[in-house]
Amino acid sequence: MFIISYKLPYAKLDSTIETLAINDIYNVFYENPLEITTDDYGYGYLEKEDEDIILKVAFEDKKEYLDDFIKTLTSLLNMDYINIEENNYDYTTYDFPAIHLDDTWVIANPEEDFEDKKKINFISQGAFGTGLHETTQDILKLILNDLDLKNKSVLDIGTGSGILSIAASIAGASIVDAVDIRDITDEVLLNSSLNNLENITPIVGNILDDSSLITNNYDWIFINIGGEETKMFMNFIKTHLNTNGTILVSGLVEWSFDEIKENVESYGFKLQSKHQTNEWVTAIFK
Ligand SMILES: C[S@@+](CC[C@H](N)C(=O)[O-])C[C@H]1O[C@@H](n2cnc3c(N)ncnc32)[C@H](O)[C@@H]1O
Repeated sequence: MFIISYKLPYAKLDSTIETLAINDIYNVFYENPLEITTDDYGYGYLEKEDEDIILKVAFEDKKEYLDDFIKTLTSLLNMDYINIEENNYDYTTYDFPAIHLDDTWVIANPEEDFEDKKKINFISQGAFGTGLHETTQDILKLILNDLDLKNKSVLDIGTGSGILSIAASIAGASIVDAVDIRDITDEVLLNSSLNNLENITPIVGNILDDSSLITNNYDWIFINIGGEETKMFMNFIKTHLNTNGTILVSGLVEWSFDEIKENVESYGFKLQSKHQTNEWVTAIFK
């Protein structure tokens, strides 16, 4: 495949994509010029509409037709490309380097071996939760080294790739339900099977709207989505947690932590421990 890049003002983006679509060229992508901002609960993004944008057009036909394709693009867009590159990525899987959580645990591709380390086999298919993010790493270290999950039932809200569910199952949980609003079924089942785990059930949907999705109660509930979402889920969590159950909340930023703590404690829970890497906070309530 070849990727041909054009630089154009953001204001012309929609009309350019439309022109290409009218001419049956749909394989087009671009990155929004984003400025990362912070708000009360975490990160936000601002689109910088006055910037130029790099529009990329993919060409997947035979190389001998490439010149003609570029001529067509030049006349349609009335400009020359700024870059052209051959690119043979497999977009169905995303390779990532092994992640050494600590001296004991590593997350890595099934083909990689590490002497003297315990490994979580993992192939990312794009859902959040490769273990790269601080929040995921902090929770994984807790699950694998510190928490007592033996024979406990676990609900993992916002499971993404299922990485926390996999760690919980490795740590001895008896039942793990892994729920996400996006369809993560294949990724969760693939990674469960790479670790020979059979007690993880992916559940897809909005559990706040559809009460038929989750009817069980759990010993542990994990939620790593963010502060605002944690507040939204607190009624649900209170209803679906066993008496003496424990909540693991993550994805909180330090500047909203006190507010979220107060909210969780207003449901009758008490903070047990707080863990932080950079600005990201993970907390356990019981
Ligand atoms: C920050 S990722 C966490 C992924 C993984 N659990 C981890 O710890 O790395 C948050 C996940 O929550 C999911 N999510 C967001 N809103 C949700 C909702 N209302 N119900 C269920 N899942 C949700 C997203 O699709 C995403 O996969």
